[in-house]
Amino acid sequence: MAQSQPTHWQLLQILQAHPGAYCAGPALAAQLHITRTGVWKHIRKLRAAGYTIETHPKAGYQLVTIPDLLLPEAIVPQLQTVWCGKNYIHLSEVDSTNDYALRLAAQGAPHGTVVVAEQQTRGRGRLQRPWLSPPRRGIYLSLLLTTPMPPQQAPQSAQVAALALVKVLHHHYGLPAVIKWPNDILIRHRKAAGILAEMQTDQDLTRFLILGIGINVNHQPNELQGPFRYPATSLAMEMQAPLARQQLLVQFLRQFEADYQRFVDGGFAAVGAELEAASAILGKTVTIHCDKEDLSGKALGFTAQGALRLLTGDGREQIIWVGDVTRVEGDF
Ligand code: BTN
Repeated sequence: MAQSQPTHWQLLQILQAHPGAYCAGPALAAQLHITRTGVWKHIRKLRAAGYTIETHPKAGYQLVTIPDLLLPEAIVPQLQTVWCGKNYIHLSEVDSTNDYALRLAAQGAPHGTVVVAEQQTRGRGRLQRPWLSPPRRGIYLSLLLTTPMPPQQAPQSAQVAALALVKVLHHHYGLPAVIKWPNDILIRHRKAAGILAEMQTDQDLTRFLILGIGINVNHQPNELQGPFRYPATSLAMEMQAPLARQQLLVQFLRQFEADYQRFVDGGFAAVGAELEAASAILGKTVTIHCDKEDLSGKALGFTAQGALRLLTGDGREQIIWVGDVTRVEGDF
């Protein structure tokens, strides 16, 4: 356990390590190098955050329930990452985690800063669409990345985040998640997560990039009504059971750090094959809205630099860096 962690985090970890058992007050005090009154003070702090802790005059303290909140003490000690989420900001409510992260970035917040909210009042999706963010249902997260890169490469970081999420959904939940280029996550043709990338550049390099990631986790069908191009779904709807958001967030941040580091060290080539394998559009005829025109053709794969290769009806291969897929053969 890291000594630099706040004492009530350390206390929580000790209680969590003894499920269904009482931990004696004097032993806790000794382990945490505080007085028994100090232990009591930190127990009160945990209770105020929503943890149910039973007290027994002789036996001590027992953790009974943990709140379904993405609190730092529940997430950060589990991360085992080098930089991702080390600076972790948890908000009960915010307009948009991306707007909050943009403000932090302007103040010089470090690489890997994570902003998470339980609810957003003005969650934003791509193309000025709103992102439904009801309280405690989803994961609404913004990640601040400060790796300098040519602005053209920045959208690939969002693809890497999509890849990390798809891998977690496959490996830990058995869900058949795929990526609709560039970074929508679909499960059985329904959208379960999306990514909004926003950046600021300094001359020819990015100064920072914010990846805003919205995951529909425990939403019920009535909470996903809207004028969506793709019908929306949630992980709970697909699994027919609620999911532990804390666990999913930890798994995602770990996977993202590993995949992003591979991308930074090895370039797009390091993740290209995995992205092709996870793609919902390769080999299919698609229509892509780019800039001011619509292009239709067969999606062939990615270039070594990460752009999409599209074979159009006139037999030419078009290279597309940025666009929005508006139609996929065989989809809705
Ligand atoms: C999309 O598919 O259109 C992108 C959706 C991105 C939503 C997330 S939720 C967290 C972050 N904050 C926002 O306001 N938007 C992103």
